[in-house]
Amino acid sequence: MVSRVLIALLFLIAVPAWGSQLCVTCHSAHYVGRGSCIDCHRGNPDSERKNIAHERIRAGKYVRFTLGEAALMKEGQRVIDLLACRRCHSSAGRGNSLTTNLDGAALRKTPKELVQSIRNPATNMPDFALTEEQMTVLINAIYSGSLARKPDQIAPVKVHFNSAGRKDPDIFSTKCGSCHRIISARLGAVGTGDIGPNLSGLFSGFYPKTFRNDEVWTTKNLDTWLKNPRVIRPWARMQPVLLNEIETREIESVIGSVSNNSASKEGR
Ligand code: HEC
Ligand code: HEC
Ligand code: HEC
Ligand code: HEC
Repeated sequence: MVSRVLIALLFLIAVPAWGSQLCVTCHSAHYVGRGSCIDCHRGNPDSERKNIAHERIRAGKYVRFTLGEAALMKEGQRVIDLLACRRCHSSAGRGNSLTTNLDGAALRKTPKELVQSIRNPATNMPDFALTEEQMTVLINAIYSGSLARKPDQIAPVKVHFNSAGRKDPDIFSTKCGSCHRIISARLGAVGTGDIGPNLSGLFSGFYPKTFRNDEVWTTKNLDTWLKNPRVIRPWARMQPVLLNEIETREIESVIGSVSNNSASKEGR
């Protein structure tokens, strides 16, 4: 009786392991105690044909996060923070939801596809011109951030209407949009200029603290800046923009405040 249970148990344990054996018709196994090939690399373990077996494969350098090296994890979060990806995206359950959720992208996409999206960014995403090394660290960070996340925990991103088709241009487009772009929680992508930085998430905790000496951008600081950028940065190229009270409030609402930017606390 006991031996029968044991055999049944062994069978249950062994069958899933055999399931990954077709990878080892061509490769030698490694990290055996840490999971099956597809836990780390994805791919299709049921085929001996390389092209099928390698469906959605993740190369070793992009799955180093599976080894849990503390230094790599730390560097990954440092790069994400430094480049402020979270002012537009949510990653590891934290960040603004102004555009696609990186945890969702990690579940769906291959490293090649992720690299491609970062190297050839969408119109409203900055070009970060990353080194190969930074890219590898970043892709590991995006994947590791999605580890504990399930598709149904990932909040959908609001669909915005493109401002291009609107009859009356919004005030951001009129006053700032020739030099700046922004993804506004209220209006979607507005502005067409690349002379000044992309201002998405300016008032959220995820925008770099570039106002002055590590200070964040608040509505008050923005007022000061718009009146005369050179008071803050002597070499600023941006000219003062004169706005009346109503225009000022309108610009602030397009940028969106932290409190009405529901995204910033999404699904921690
Ligand atoms: C028919 C033989 C064959 C099978 C089956 C196979 N591979 Fe490979 N694999 C190769 C060869 C050959 C390479 C060398 C690079 C190339 O030609 O794509 C490779 C490369 C790889 C790489 C490196 C990919 C890269 O982009 O650098 C990984 C990771 C990998 N295989 C994992 C797997 C996993 C996981 C499975 C099972 C799901 C698997 N392989 C099944 C033959 C195979
Ligand atoms: C715990 C996660 C993990 C498991 C399980 C795992 N690998 Fe890997 N694999 C890695 C990592 C990380 C690397 C790259 C760094 C290294 O070699 O340690 C790698 C490297 C490779 C490479 C070298 C090519 C490349 O892309 O770097 C091949 C081929 C490969 N693995 C195939 C397999 C196969 C086949 C299995 C199943 C028998 C498997 N791996 C199981 C994490 C894993
Ligand atoms: C100013 C806003 C902004 C910033 C900052 C930003 N992105 Fe994006 N990102 C976008 C937009 C817009 C898209 C296009 C979304 C779409 O097409 O649905 C995008 C798309 C992506 C995609 C493709 C997602 C998918 O589902 O296919 C990846 C991956 C990505 N970004 C990674 C990053 C990383 C990593 C960083 C930080 C280094 C970053 N982004 C910073 C705006 C931004
Ligand atoms: C004629 C072009 C131009 C216009 C119009 C313009 N800006 Fe700028 N802005 C810039 C440039 C260039 C910079 C880069 C910093 C500098 O001046 O050196 C900048 C920087 C900024 C910054 C600092 C961002 C940071 O992270 O350092 C903010 C905030 C800003 N602009 C807000 C606005 C707003 C809001 C408007 C509209 C009311 C606006 N700008 C209109 C050109 C412009």
